[in-house]
Amino acid sequence: MLEDLFQSTSTSNVLLGAGFALLVVTFLYSSVSSPNKRKEPPGPRPLPLVGNLLQVDLKRLDSSLFDLSKKYGPVFTVHFGFKKVVVLAGYETVRKALVNHAVEFGDREVTPLFYDFNKGHGILFTNGNTWREMRRFALTTLRDFGMGKRLIEGKIIEEIQYLIKEFERHEGKAFSIAQLSNYASSNIIYAIMFGKRFEYKDPVFQAIVDRDHESILLTGSAPIMLYNLFPWLGPYIPAWRKLMKNVEINRAEIRSKIEDLKKSWDPDVCGNFVDAFMTHRQHLEDSEIKSSQFSDDNLLYSVMNLLAAGSDTLGNTLQWSLLLMAKYPHIQNQVQEELSRVVGSRQVRVEDRKNLPYTDAVIHESQRLVNIVPMAIPHKTSRDVTFEGYFIKEGTTVIPLLTSVLHSESEWESPHTFNPSHFLDKEGKFIRRDAFMPFSAGRRACLGEGLARMEIFLFFTFLLQRFRFTPPPGVTEDELDLTPVVGFTLTPLPQELCVLIRH
Ligand code: HEM
Repeated sequence: MLEDLFQSTSTSNVLLGAGFALLVVTFLYSSVSSPNKRKEPPGPRPLPLVGNLLQVDLKRLDSSLFDLSKKYGPVFTVHFGFKKVVVLAGYETVRKALVNHAVEFGDREVTPLFYDFNKGHGILFTNGNTWREMRRFALTTLRDFGMGKRLIEGKIIEEIQYLIKEFERHEGKAFSIAQLSNYASSNIIYAIMFGKRFEYKDPVFQAIVDRDHESILLTGSAPIMLYNLFPWLGPYIPAWRKLMKNVEINRAEIRSKIEDLKKSWDPDVCGNFVDAFMTHRQHLEDSEIKSSQFSDDNLLYSVMNLLAAGSDTLGNTLQWSLLLMAKYPHIQNQVQEELSRVVGSRQVRVEDRKNLPYTDAVIHESQRLVNIVPMAIPHKTSRDVTFEGYFIKEGTTVIPLLTSVLHSESEWESPHTFNPSHFLDKEGKFIRRDAFMPFSAGRRACLGEGLARMEIFLFFTFLLQRFRFTPPPGVTEDELDLTPVVGFTLTPLPQELCVLIRH
């Protein structure tokens, strides 16, 4: 595959040769100079240079690591090139590490690519004071704007009405719901950031969302994983060049939207995230509280992080859940029966959730099965830690393998099938399951969980109240394909559905 990545110019050959020589020296040096008497997590024996890269499938890394965990146990080491990574597998282990040892396992690994993206600013790929202050500010602001409350419920419902109109325009003919789902989902977080929604046809909005989507796919691709191990390869990797271009264009677009808002900023009217940031900064300056964190860079990258983290995840989840409904019509029937019985034709509200146990179970089961962020986002140990009898050095990359939690054979009765009963008791009441962990856990857990759960519930129930989702004519339910497209998140394969109005 490497051949695909490089152009065979003499310059690249010289660079490659020099790079490999450097790697050999680094590898030999690191293996000779760090004799470790403490017991480190076991794992497959690494080969020089490539480590265990030949023993895993980079196209489906989470599944490969899950398989390795069956052989090496819940805490094990894999070597990606000369980079040592500790994998945490299974519900108990992931929870214990992320929750009981929240500080030790709570730093973020900032891979070369994520550094390229964020330059040490924002929320997703920062640590220390920057991360702490930006995360706290984002959480408070999202709550002030009504995350999990009525205020935002109205905004979500308004957006769903636009999506419904767009779906209706297709008059039951087959089409791909992917783009519209992404635009509608993105609009909620865009409206929170900038104070207004965008028309689905707005070319600037479309291009930003499409570029973000493409970037998320590329970020999890094998060439980019190689780039993270051997950053000097960057300029020879087309995927890296494409990503850098996407990020650069989106950064310029978002920066210009922020600049526009700054011009109209009025500290007495706080209508969006950017305003709230400016007002907070002003407040700090007025009270002479020293904080260097409320900088223009942190504003820009926090907004970019929230847009990236809050758009595709939701659009993806929505597409998966509707695809599952088309594939399993008997489950769709039961959701629609419950919706008709409990809600009838009035608008669904978030508070209806408690009276819709079957629907709630179907939503949870969809998220569990499709497992859209299979390896969370890599963590890093903030200090030396002894965990489950193993010594893990400060600064070690840690993967909390969410696949191993959401698809665990010991936690779920039928981990690989779509089975809403996982979340129902014998009387049909909804039951919470500890191993339901799609948002991860601990101090780096998803900060948009409250918002995301509300969005998923409202989008799903409104759409199922209004529409019947079926495969296109000539395609059977069995033929609808649940194989994911693997990127940084798992996305459904592009395929068409019919969206029929229910009468
Ligand atoms: C179905 C929807 C979503 C899923 C499944 C999801 C899942 C996740 C996961 C697994 C992580 C990594 C946690 C870790 O590293 O341990 C994460 C982090 C994050 N998510 Fe979400 N997310 C969703 C929606 C959202 C939304 C709507 C927002 C924005 C409002 C958001 C903002 C973030 C941020 C900022 C982080 C980084 C937190 C940090 O590093 O401190 N997510 N999410």
